[in-house]
Amino acid sequence: MCGIIGCVGRGDETLDTLVHGLSKLEYRGYDSAGVALSSDHVEICKNSGKIDDLREALSDRTLSGSVGIGHTRWSTHGPPTDANAHPHQDCHGDVAVVHNGIIENYQSLRDELVAAGHTFTSDTDTEVVPHLIEDALEAGSDPEDAVREAISRLEGSYAVAAVVAGCDAVFAARNDSPLVLGLAEDATFLASDVPAFRDFTDQVVYLADGEFARLDADGWTVTDSDGSVVEKDVDTVEWDPEETGKSGYEHYMLKEIHEQPRALRQCLRGRVDELSGTVDIGDLGDLSPTGVQFVACGTSYHAALHGAQLFREAGIPSQAFLASEYATATPPIGDALVVGVTQSGETADTLSALRAARRRGARTLAVTNVVGSTAARECDHALYIRAGPEIGVAATKTFASQLAALNLLALGTSSTGDARQVISALRDLPGHVQEILDESAAQEIAEIYQDADAYFFIGRGYHEPVALEGALKMKEITYKHAEGFAAGELKHGPLALVTENTPVFAIVTGDDERARKTVGNVKEVEARDAPVVAITDGQSDVSRYADHVLELPETHPRAAAVLANIHLQLVSYHTAALLGRNIDKPRNLAKSVTVE
Ligand code: AGP
Ligand code: GLU
Repeated sequence: MCGIIGCVGRGDETLDTLVHGLSKLEYRGYDSAGVALSSDHVEICKNSGKIDDLREALSDRTLSGSVGIGHTRWSTHGPPTDANAHPHQDCHGDVAVVHNGIIENYQSLRDELVAAGHTFTSDTDTEVVPHLIEDALEAGSDPEDAVREAISRLEGSYAVAAVVAGCDAVFAARNDSPLVLGLAEDATFLASDVPAFRDFTDQVVYLADGEFARLDADGWTVTDSDGSVVEKDVDTVEWDPEETGKSGYEHYMLKEIHEQPRALRQCLRGRVDELSGTVDIGDLGDLSPTGVQFVACGTSYHAALHGAQLFREAGIPSQAFLASEYATATPPIGDALVVGVTQSGETADTLSALRAARRRGARTLAVTNVVGSTAARECDHALYIRAGPEIGVAATKTFASQLAALNLLALGTSSTGDARQVISALRDLPGHVQEILDESAAQEIAEIYQDADAYFFIGRGYHEPVALEGALKMKEITYKHAEGFAAGELKHGPLALVTENTPVFAIVTGDDERARKTVGNVKEVEARDAPVVAITDGQSDVSRYADHVLELPETHPRAAAVLANIHLQLVSYHTAALLGRNIDKPRNLAKSVTVE
């Protein structure tokens, strides 16, 4: 999920080129870094921590070789330790491999390789790849075929690059994880993003899923999975090296909003089986909770509210608590499972609530994005949301992935009547998110209402947490007043604030009793001249009372909540952009709040 660089043809400059390339990929976020250089043998240097730590480790080493690969890791399998950092090697140290993504079938491959006598030195899924290459080399394949054979065994998402001792080439393959080649006169590069080599060339070739690349000192080839040559277009990158980072997006927040289809696919990958209607969330053991208490803060608290509804719907008593309140007044636990929802895994309030729960004998589970984070280490169990690193202070893609992961948790630990429908809606979710990203009218709404006095958000059921989240996003990045309410609460006080200069965003999907009641609340707002923006799938008649509509596809209400939120993220983002705010680092806020 993070960064790969490879190069051939830079001679004595190879190591510096790799480290420079990694530093250009730092913006993607990472927890470890490493490089491998290959000649008649392979040498590697890697460690957890920053690229400066890698530079320091390299300062008393001499690594030689004129082909090489480098990596920044965002851990998904095993904590960010030196041993788990990439590159990974085979038993003899003749092969080095870097990988971004997740190899779904790694456990069965690892079992097979261990049974055949291979020794593993890391917890990663990646390490199966060098051992598979080793087997193929020993069976007589040449280096290119050996790498191809190894790749053909992999299921999941990957960008992989490999070097083999005695072969002056870099091999690479991708499936659902980006890789691009850079073509200079005397050198060839590959990377997960152009900035890594933009200082050397503006000529690029984008690899497609299923393609395999070979980089040599005198050229490059791209082939398909059968080995047939693919004629690739060479593109010219229009922007200057200075403009790099953020993959061309103006802000990390916008980049991360657009990463949601991929983040969701990554979260669901290998965990749902639509045919059998079952969910496999790994080695969480038999949780069988008789009650669930969620603890979380901010955006993660809104995800927790969604999670608590899921369990209640499955007949399991469940409640979401603000972590800062829970820690000082822990409610009765019984044998409830206490679930900390925390993107960073480092939020002090949430850690403190989880510790309070543990002291009272509760079993704890962390739902987090960061492998090896304090929450993941301290809890009895961890469920990773696999959203990839989030740099913008405003949580976006991690909220969507939290909702998806909590649905998996509920499906995997309780029984609900409509599991099959939920699973099929989850499967459709990445595609539906993409449609909204492509077609949302959010920017026009932002232009019309950028000068509003305040913004209100209303929804019922699964849409109430989305209303709260819509308001939080709006206030934190625009610095304007915004509030979210359960739609039914509006008339109990907040309605006094509603004027013609306070747009009300109403999330209404389906046409059940909840939807009809929310439409009733919309009429109350309309009667007071407030502009209404309906976020709707068109099943109810809410559009008749709305000034604008942000469209949703018809889907399960749980998935609709994720989709409605995408429109609201975009409205907040564009409003903040029009107001010239510091979107990625809003005033007074920090990405990870490590004080109570
Ligand atoms: C939301 O945009 C904020 N970043 C904030 O509310 C955040 O969700 C909260 O601080 C909790 O962080 P965590 O998920 O890392 O625990
Ligand atoms: N799954 C691999 C690991 O945990 C690669 C992670 C990445 O994309 O950086 O090491």
